[in-house]
Amino acid sequence: ALCRACLALAAALAALLLLPLPRTPTPARTPALAPRATPVHHAALPRLRPDDVFIAVKTTRKNHGPRLRLLLRTWISRARRQTFIFTDGDDPELELQEAAGGRVINTNCSAVRTRQALCCKMSVEYDKFIESGRKWFCHVDDDNYVNPESLLHLLSSFSPSQDIYLGRPSLDHPIEATERVHGGRTATTVKFWFATGGAGFCLSRGLALKMSPWASLGSFMSTAERVRLPDDCTVGYIVEGLLGAHLLHSPLFHSHLENLQGLPQDTVLQQVTLSYGGPENPRNVVNVVGVFSLQQDPTRFKSVHCLLYPDTDWCPRQGDP
Ligand SMILES: *[C@@H]1O[C@H](CO)[C@@H](O)[C@H](O)[C@H]1NC(C)=O
Repeated sequence: ALCRACLALAAALAALLLLPLPRTPTPARTPALAPRATPVHHAALPRLRPDDVFIAVKTTRKNHGPRLRLLLRTWISRARRQTFIFTDGDDPELELQEAAGGRVINTNCSAVRTRQALCCKMSVEYDKFIESGRKWFCHVDDDNYVNPESLLHLLSSFSPSQDIYLGRPSLDHPIEATERVHGGRTATTVKFWFATGGAGFCLSRGLALKMSPWASLGSFMSTAERVRLPDDCTVGYIVEGLLGAHLLHSPLFHSHLENLQGLPQDTVLQQVTLSYGGPENPRNVVNVVGVFSLQQDPTRFKSVHCLLYPDTDWCPRQGDP
């Protein structure tokens, strides 16, 4: 028995000598039994690569022409391998498939803008993300400009195994919804924050996996029916209402519902997403000067893109009149 104790002591001493000195004194443990008990330190996170991110762009057949073409020519051209386009109709135009590198997914969902149809698309986006094995899921609309570098920088400060839900709330208070379960016989009130889909939002893989019972393989649709809310609210309901995780409010995501002109000009290029007012509100665009006129570039996306990537072949050469 004494000898066994001696051996154990000798082994512990040897392990101590072989191990690099820990920064803080910790009890001696054999390497195989020393899992990291503390959360991963920022500096210890492996470098996030562009391919770790899955960007889902939600569109519809009738927007393939004008809206999507603008995105393909601008930010998607710099984030090709990260971007997956979710639509509701096949496109005989090869240009779209080619420009997107074949990453166009026909969800077979209805093209009408009903809650059910939108939830159907979100459900397919979710399943494709899980299947991809990537670390981060980000959803945007077809009127969003994504700055891929700002996005990567933002996500780099979190661990994808933590519960992370990032985006901009569309309201300044949590939403209150009536939750119907047991075939509608029981109704309770739930309060939760949600990130507005029109500004884009991101979910870590760790959190997305926990969402699976309420989101995978079509169950997202029945979850949405429980609260009778649109796709983006349903994501908030699952994250906050059902899982008890929380939305991290980020001011870097922007939708067409905001006052985009109010965004300080010197911060436009650092934002994660941008948007534009569209035909109903054509003046609601971000403030960038130079490059293209408002007439040549009504959404301002081309100007933003040329300021970020001046080497793009269709951007005006510096010094040209
Ligand atoms: C949509 O339907 C086509 C043809 O039936 C099929 O090949 C494709 O996988 C379907 N898409 C999804 C996302 O299920």
